[in-house]
Amino acid sequence: MEQLNRLLDFRNSPKLGVLSAQYALLEYASGAPVQFSYKDLQRATKGFKEKLGAGGFGVVYKGVLANRTTVAVKQLEGIEQGEKQFRMEVATISSTHHLNLVRLIGFCSESRHRLLVYEFMKNSSLDTFLFAPEEQLQSVKMLNWESRFNIALGTARGITYLHEECRDCIVHCDIKPENILLDENHNAKVSDFGLAKLVNPKDHRYRTLTSVRGTRGYLAPEWLANLPITSKSDVYSYGMVLLEIVCGRRNFEVSEQTNRKKFSVWAYEEVDKGNIEAIIDTKLRNHEQVDMDQVRRVIECFYIGAISGATVVSTDTKRVIVCFRGGEH
Ligand SMILES: Nc1ncnc2c1ncn2[C@@H]1O[C@H](COP(=O)(O)OP(=O)(O)OP(=O)(O)O)[C@@H](O)[C@H]1O
Ligand SMILES: [Mg+2]
Repeated sequence: MEQLNRLLDFRNSPKLGVLSAQYALLEYASGAPVQFSYKDLQRATKGFKEKLGAGGFGVVYKGVLANRTTVAVKQLEGIEQGEKQFRMEVATISSTHHLNLVRLIGFCSESRHRLLVYEFMKNSSLDTFLFAPEEQLQSVKMLNWESRFNIALGTARGITYLHEECRDCIVHCDIKPENILLDENHNAKVSDFGLAKLVNPKDHRYRTLTSVRGTRGYLAPEWLANLPITSKSDVYSYGMVLLEIVCGRRNFEVSEQTNRKKFSVWAYEEVDKGNIEAIIDTKLRNHEQVDMDQVRRVIECFYIGAISGATVVSTDTKRVIVCFRGGEH
C-alpha cells in the first residue's frame, strides 16, 4: 500500500506534465479512481461555488474537470478512518459498475481533506420530482407513470447488483429518493453506496443507536432494535420508496387526509379496502391514464418489502424483484 501511495504521489507530480495527464486518462479508461489534488477540485468547482445540496456526509458542489466532464464533488466531513482505509473503500466503490449505479470518477485525500468526485446527474434526485407542490412543477419536472415505473425497476436492478452480483455484498443503508439520481433520460442511478462503511467503519452488527446511519422514515425497524443489518434493511427502505413513487407523498407524512396516521399506514389500509385509486399521486391522476396493473404490482412489492419485512425481517431483494417484474427475469 505504501508503494502504491508513493507511486500515486509520483504520478501526480506536476513535473510529469503531459505524462501525468496521460496517466489520468488511462486511469479513467480503466475504471480506476482518479486521484485529484485539492487544488484541482477547487479549480473545478470555482472555489466550491455552486452547491447542489447537502446531506449527512457533507456538502455536494457542481464542478467541471479539465477534460470538460461535469461532476458532483462531495466534500466529506467526519471521516474517522485513516488514509489507507479510505483509499481501500474508494477503490471498492469505484470498481462497482452498473448501469443503475452512479459512477465514482475519483477522489481527493490530502491532509484533512477527503472528497469524492461523481459523474454529474442532469436531472438531480427523485425527491425533486415526487414531492414538489403541483403548482411549482413545470411540465419538464412532471414524471409520468411510465418513467416512474422505469425508475422503480432501475433502482431495483441497482440494489440487486449491490446485494447479489458484486464480489462482496454491499448494503447501502440509505436508500431514499434523494439517493436515486436521474440522468438526462430519467434513468435511475443509485448514489452513495459504500459510504456507510466509509463513515462508520466499526462492525455494523454492534452499532449503537448514536451511530445509526440512514434517514428517518426509511430506516428498517432492525436498525432501531439494534439487530444485525443485512441487505433486507435496504429492501425495507426500497419498499417505502415504491410507495412514494406511486403516491408522490413522503411515507411518514401525517395529515388530516390520512386521519393523522402515517401516510404508509393509511395508504395500506386504503389498498386493503380496495380503494387503490385514492392513494395515487394527484399529479398523475390529473394528467394521464395510469397502468393500474403496474400500480398494483408496485404496491404489492411495497407490501412485501416494507410491511411484511418489518415484522419478520425475512424479505430478500430477489423476491421483491421477481414480484415486481411480474415474471420477467
Ligand atoms: N452526482 C450527482 N449529480 C447531481 N446531483 C447530485 C449528485 N450527488 C448529489 N446530488 C444532489 O445533491 C443533494 C445532496 O446530496 P447528499 O448525498 O449530500 O445528501 P442526501 O442524498 O440528501 O443525503 P445522504 O447524505 O443521506 O445521502 C442530492 O439530494 C442531489 O440532489
Ligand atoms: Mg446522497
